[in-house]
Amino acid sequence: MTVRPAAAVVLAAGEGTRMKSAVPKVLHELGGRSLVAHAVAAAQGLDPAHLAVVVGHGRDQVRAHLGRVAPGVTVVVQDRQLGTGHAVSCALENLPGLDGVVVVTYGDVPLLTGDTLRDLVDRHTADGNGVTVLTAELDDPAGYGRVLRDADGGILGIVEQKDASATVQRIREINSGIYAFDARVLRDGLARLTTDNAQGELYLTDVVAIARTDGRGVGAHRTGDAWQTQGVNDRTQLAALGRELNWRVLDGWMRAGVSVIDPATTWVDVTVQLGRDVVLRPGVQLHGSTRVDDGAEVGPDSTLTDCSVGAGAHVVRTHAVDAEIGPECAVGPFTYLRPGARLARRAKAGAFVEIKASSVGEGSKVPHLSYIGDAEIGTGVNIGAATVVVNYDGVAKHRTIIGDHAFVGCDTMLVAPVTVGDGAHTAAGSVITDDVPPGAMAVARERQRNVEGWVERKRAGTAAAEAAARAREGQTGEEHGVTAGGGEGSQP
Ligand code: UD1
Ligand code: CA
Repeated sequence: MTVRPAAAVVLAAGEGTRMKSAVPKVLHELGGRSLVAHAVAAAQGLDPAHLAVVVGHGRDQVRAHLGRVAPGVTVVVQDRQLGTGHAVSCALENLPGLDGVVVVTYGDVPLLTGDTLRDLVDRHTADGNGVTVLTAELDDPAGYGRVLRDADGGILGIVEQKDASATVQRIREINSGIYAFDARVLRDGLARLTTDNAQGELYLTDVVAIARTDGRGVGAHRTGDAWQTQGVNDRTQLAALGRELNWRVLDGWMRAGVSVIDPATTWVDVTVQLGRDVVLRPGVQLHGSTRVDDGAEVGPDSTLTDCSVGAGAHVVRTHAVDAEIGPECAVGPFTYLRPGARLARRAKAGAFVEIKASSVGEGSKVPHLSYIGDAEIGTGVNIGAATVVVNYDGVAKHRTIIGDHAFVGCDTMLVAPVTVGDGAHTAAGSVITDDVPPGAMAVARERQRNVEGWVERKRAGTAAAEAAARAREGQTGEEHGVTAGGGEGSQP
């Protein structure tokens, strides 16, 4: 079992100038989480007694963000960024007298996992070290601190790129900046740091050489997974790490029984939950707390944020936010589900349909070209094409209730507040302003009136008038005369 650290410290005070952003670097996101939230999640994997995040640049924004995503962490302010060693000193000053293991990580290294941190701590405790450094071997180590070893492979210290000779620059083993320290060794080392280096900073890395000089055990845990040590300094790196993280998330789901037809165009946040035999087609983005249950299919081209999709549902070319899609539902193509849209089992929301803050009962259908807002639709209801719930009078929103097995005719306007009773019908093209009793047929439109011969009189000489004339001649030829109509809609 991994020893429980006395503290984990996440350094996140740096400015991140290369992001060229008004947003502090550690608040940039990948995989549905900010950089700093990834770092905190990895550190939480150690269950440390204290978890501190050192903030500086953009501290108010970062503090507010941490208050939302990680309310349990201790936020420590480093007023001026005098170096990584100074940042850790600030954290220790704000934590009670620590005894045991202290882990230090960075707020901008998002692929690091709790498992890797546990391996680091396990190595640290097993070897009885004063310091254990997480290292990696890179093809291009430029920019990183290099790990200096003696002839026996023992760690001598870490040399920053800017302080490194040409020989040292050829070393490919780099310092990830992630360490496990014995608290006392860390405190002693920090007290003796100087700014005698190319950047005039208090380097945390110098604690390693100090510990070695003092004869405290110094070791390294070298990871074969260099991605986990990669930091984000600019937006190109953010995108590269975002793609790799996404691949890792998808790989995990595929191994758990999810089919991802095109991993290159499928993006799944680390917070999403997927069931077995879920199929994700090309162009799918699943964000936030979205959950897709067994056997459901999403895509192509769908974006779901904080949604639930029930077992066996099909969601095609859909944009949905904070919506509940029940089991075996059919959604799409070209459907917009807004917050509070709730579709019960086997409901359908079809092409060019927008639903907001409304429930659609079991087996009910909104198949074509409709807007449904602030409505409760019962079970077994059919909503005709182009029906609109007129929920907003310019001042307030009102509710609409549609009873079980109601049949709403095409192009009905339901002017809220209004109730359509169980089993009631509305005639196509109706503007429904009054409640419809159960079982009634509501007709709320002008009856049709045909003004005979109007086109030939008023639009003489047009193609329409000629067509009308031809039709009339053909008719008189065949039928020997004109009958006076008495049918529905005509007014003689
Ligand atoms: C640091 C290491 C280097 C290592 C590299 C790995 C030192 C001296 N060097 O270099 O050996 O290879 O990380 O990425 O530690 N920070 C603060 N306060 C400060 C300075 C930095 O909080 O005063 C934070 C930054 O926000 C960042 C992290 O510490 O998250 C690293 O700082 P950075 O300046 O990027 O260090 P590097 O020069 O990359
Ligand atoms: Ca860096």
